[in-house]
Amino acid sequence: MVDKIIENEIKEAEKLNKEFKEHSVAEFFKKNKQMLGFYGPVRTLTMVVHEYVTNSLDACEETGILPDIDVKIDELGKEYYEVTVTDNGPGISQENVGKAFGKLLAGTKFHRLIQSRGQQGIGCSGCTMLSQMTTGKSSKIITGQKGKKPISLEIMIDPKSNSPKITNFKELEKQFQGTAVQAKFKEVIYRDSEQGPLEYLKRTAVANPHCQITLRDPSGQKITFKRTSTKLPEASQEVKPHPKGVSADEILNMAKITKARTISGYIINDFDRTGAKSLEEIRKKVNFDLNKDPAKITWEEAEEIAKAFKSIDFIAPSTDALRPIGEDQIKNSLYSIVKPEFLTVLTRKPAVYSGGFPFQVEIAIAYGGEAGRVLTDGTKKFEIMRFANRVPLPFDAGNCALTHAVQGIDWKRYGIKDAENSPMTVFINFISVHIPYTGAGKQSVADEEEVLEEVRLALMNTGRRAGIYISHKKKDEENQMKRKMFYKYIPEITKALTEMTKTDESKLKEQMQKLVLEKLQLDEAKDKEEMEKLEEQMKNDDKSSFVETKKKKVK
Ligand SMILES: Nc1ncnc2c1ncn2[C@@H]1O[C@H](COP(=O)(O)OP(=O)(O)OP(=O)(O)O)[C@@H](O)[C@H]1O
Ligand SMILES: [Mg+2]
Repeated sequence: MVDKIIENEIKEAEKLNKEFKEHSVAEFFKKNKQMLGFYGPVRTLTMVVHEYVTNSLDACEETGILPDIDVKIDELGKEYYEVTVTDNGPGISQENVGKAFGKLLAGTKFHRLIQSRGQQGIGCSGCTMLSQMTTGKSSKIITGQKGKKPISLEIMIDPKSNSPKITNFKELEKQFQGTAVQAKFKEVIYRDSEQGPLEYLKRTAVANPHCQITLRDPSGQKITFKRTSTKLPEASQEVKPHPKGVSADEILNMAKITKARTISGYIINDFDRTGAKSLEEIRKKVNFDLNKDPAKITWEEAEEIAKAFKSIDFIAPSTDALRPIGEDQIKNSLYSIVKPEFLTVLTRKPAVYSGGFPFQVEIAIAYGGEAGRVLTDGTKKFEIMRFANRVPLPFDAGNCALTHAVQGIDWKRYGIKDAENSPMTVFINFISVHIPYTGAGKQSVADEEEVLEEVRLALMNTGRRAGIYISHKKKDEENQMKRKMFYKYIPEITKALTEMTKTDESKLKEQMQKLVLEKLQLDEAKDKEEMEKLEEQMKNDDKSSFVETKKKKVK
């Protein structure tokens, strides 16, 4: 009996062992595409456009090219579309193009700390996978580099090996520099809504004034967002990791590829803000020789270094690598695209989150004109435009630190009484060498305490300025109304008074007008005083809200 039970258990275990299989990242993605944000027919199409366009922008900026991006979306059938994105970027080499579009988790951006839009190496290859999963078709690429013949090819991904399968490779005789990708997708829908490709591209244009974007939508309509600046953002710089933010695993991995010959050299050269003084402190805290070859470092030693890093005070990370859009540029593009009657913009100083990563926040509040979200009945509502490294984040708003910071603001304090129903757009651009996204779909920023605080301070500052404008406007409107009312009744009242008092009518009228004018002037003076008080308070708050982060030590 017992033998029988044991025999059965062995059989079951063998069966389970046979079922044990490896699967590639591509197979994983095939099953879990929603993790990359590919779910819902409208969202999926916008995400596809987003992946191609962000790559074009990154590639152009890295090589000093003013981006010209053309997006074409054709309807091929029910919930069936073809997306074509063409850029004037640097192109991709024959050697890399297969991996760029046909291998998940491959690219030029993952292993560096640099402010770029892409970071994971899964964006455009994810689109190739999605296209073949929903249509069975390959993605077509034409790419040309300076001084070389352009090439044309079709790519699919072999999910088992997560590698590209290239067909129809051709060298082209025509001149072309840049990259064009064309892919078909099923189970997607084009909508002219807040979450559709048009709004996405409009927002991209707002945050990228140096970029020219054209959309040809499925109805054949051509919409162009012209560049409002010919100034390219300064090229982003790679930064070294700050010792406070690294784990033992990272210390071990970096040690394997360092050019330094000793661990001390490695600590000084490969990390931000380390120097002779911190090295001496580390030497005292670890139990091994820092003259050792970094390639021979053990896990335990890496852990000792990570622990020592955590216990030492370092200057906050260098923030020179951050590339904000800039107040003037944001103003230009918002005036050109949103056309508000009032606009206020603020670029905060850089700060640091989680002890390791520099970041910066830019906020604008636009009021009136085409600002605010337009509902189907034409009424306007409060709108938040969120961006991370200039990339619009149209989805997962409820899950995002940027939304949470806006929700934490008491707009009434700034004279904005019914914010929810105001024609107001709050623009927030969060930039960092590493965006703390809450998921691989890259649509919401994690609630890092320092991030929330910076956004809140910037919102308070711009909120006050907007509040002053809105209050002035409301007061002006009220005073106009009062003036109208008083003047309307002066003739009637003078007439009645003349009859009662038998005095000269024109004299009485003159006196009445003088009285009304004095009353109005008195009211206006009171309003002015209130406004000045508010403005003074705003100035003081501004001064106290700016923290010099560069000199601040990271604990
Ligand atoms: N239009 C383009 N021009 C030049 N290079 C490109 C272009 N599109 C993609 N690439 C290259 O292909 C690589 C892979 O792109 P992919 O979108 O998959 O990942 P990523 O942009 O690095 O990161 P993320 O997954 O966050 O988007 C990029 O790192 C880049 O080197
Ligand atoms: Mg990308």
